[in-house]
Amino acid sequence: MSVKQASVFLLIQLICYFRLGTCGKVLVWPTEYSHWINIKIIVDELVHRGHEVTVLTSSASILINPSRESSINFEIYSVPVSKEELQDDFQSWITEWTNDFQKYSFWTYYSKMEEDFNKYSDVIESFCKAIVWNKSLMKKLQESKFDVILADAIGPCGELLAELLKTPLVYSLRFCPGYKFEKYSGGLTLPPSYVPVVLSEFSDHMTFVERVKNMLQVLYFDFWFQTFKEKSWSQFYSDALGRPTTLSEMMGKADIWLIRTYWDLQFPHPLLPNFEFVGGLHCKPAKPLPKEMEDFVQSSGEHGIVVFSLGSMVKNISSEKANIVASALAQIPQKVLWRFDGKKPDTLASNTRLYKWIPQNDLLGHPKTKAFIAHGGTNGIYEAIYHGIPIVGIPLYKENAMRLSRIQHDQPIKPLDKAVFWIEYVMRNRGAKHLRPALHDLTWVQYHSLDVIGFLLACVAAVVFIITKCCLFCCRKTTNMGKKKKKE
Ligand SMILES: *[C@@H]1O[C@H](CO)[C@@H](O)[C@H](O)[C@H]1NC(C)=O
Ligand SMILES: *[C@@H]1O[C@H](CO)[C@@H](O)[C@H](O)[C@H]1NC(C)=O
Repeated sequence: MSVKQASVFLLIQLICYFRLGTCGKVLVWPTEYSHWINIKIIVDELVHRGHEVTVLTSSASILINPSRESSINFEIYSVPVSKEELQDDFQSWITEWTNDFQKYSFWTYYSKMEEDFNKYSDVIESFCKAIVWNKSLMKKLQESKFDVILADAIGPCGELLAELLKTPLVYSLRFCPGYKFEKYSGGLTLPPSYVPVVLSEFSDHMTFVERVKNMLQVLYFDFWFQTFKEKSWSQFYSDALGRPTTLSEMMGKADIWLIRTYWDLQFPHPLLPNFEFVGGLHCKPAKPLPKEMEDFVQSSGEHGIVVFSLGSMVKNISSEKANIVASALAQIPQKVLWRFDGKKPDTLASNTRLYKWIPQNDLLGHPKTKAFIAHGGTNGIYEAIYHGIPIVGIPLYKENAMRLSRIQHDQPIKPLDKAVFWIEYVMRNRGAKHLRPALHDLTWVQYHSLDVIGFLLACVAAVVFIITKCCLFCCRKTTNMGKKKKKE
């Protein structure tokens, strides 16, 4: 850090100090790739507002680069894998997902996904153990007295750290398979009659057959699919806390859930006070492009350009596929900027240029941009929606880009401000347990009021029983009396 930077930093801290202690200490439990890119936006804004942010970074971290960020503290813990090994693991899953997954049926698709998630679960668990079982590191974190932990819910550990350090917890989450965490740890009510399972092709208006299929998928995720090895995590958490607990129970203690979607992509469903929808928080107006890129974009004339990216994870598609893609791109009149890190395809035409990295947001906000070809990652989708650019090749939705863009912009508070507000809110109020619904204290039977329904049914049955008995008794009496009278 240069002297100038250091003094600016110090000044921010001082301003913060005099603003009645609204600045706090934030501990971040991140995950990799686009998830880190997204959470980094929040981290930067927190730093900008004078908070002190510490990011737990594994020694194998792929995208997190401590040497580049001087205003963020990094707590680097060593893990038994190398960066290359971790990267290879991710790449092999991605290669499998991009090349093989389209061929699979629903069940094969999700059982393969479960397998990959389970391998990922083992990796994250070993990372978490590297922190939690390291006494000196935990002591250091304890002494830092953090005001809040910001964790990506798609990599467990944040909730355990929050419990061990007795710190409030804010989650960032796009979605988890089948909305399992949202429903069972967050307590969100998602009726299968009008909330389609995430990634299904259904809308919120389902025919009878679609509702049957949706219900089957809900049951599959609720009772069969395991995003993480829950047994293993629950055992680990029980060991660490010295009392029996489960991963789901620990996750249920989160104060606030920041969900990275909004009502432009999400069908309306019931809400809870501790859920906030902050999709598109990373979007911002476009900045000018680098000179060389701007010249290429301008050379497209009236046809404009197409931006093509498969996201930060997909680096490598087979050369056969790359050739097919390249020859398809050769046939459109637009110029194409393709983010691709592999071998240059032989069929690459003069209208297409390959880039190892592109300023995606700035390109999507460029007036010459006509379309975006993407893999369907949320960050890219939101940037396209924000700038009103149609997206090609996404099965998720086919709606009008401008309409979605209007919905995204028409919000009382910008999503990033909303996300930061809630993190600061949790720091100011030392948690937000008053926003958490009491459903976490209920059993499954109580939550669905099955005990009450049972009791009321029993009451009705008892009354009916008594009335019938009485009637029978009276009837018998009158008939007996009738008989007696006849005899007389
Ligand atoms: C535990 O963490 C400290 C940093 O606080 C580090 O110096 C030490 O090497 C770690 N121990 C192990 C076994 O990883
Ligand atoms: C890239 O893809 C090819 C074929 O799809 C595969 O054999 C290779 O291992 C991949 N490379 C990496 C680094 O994932």
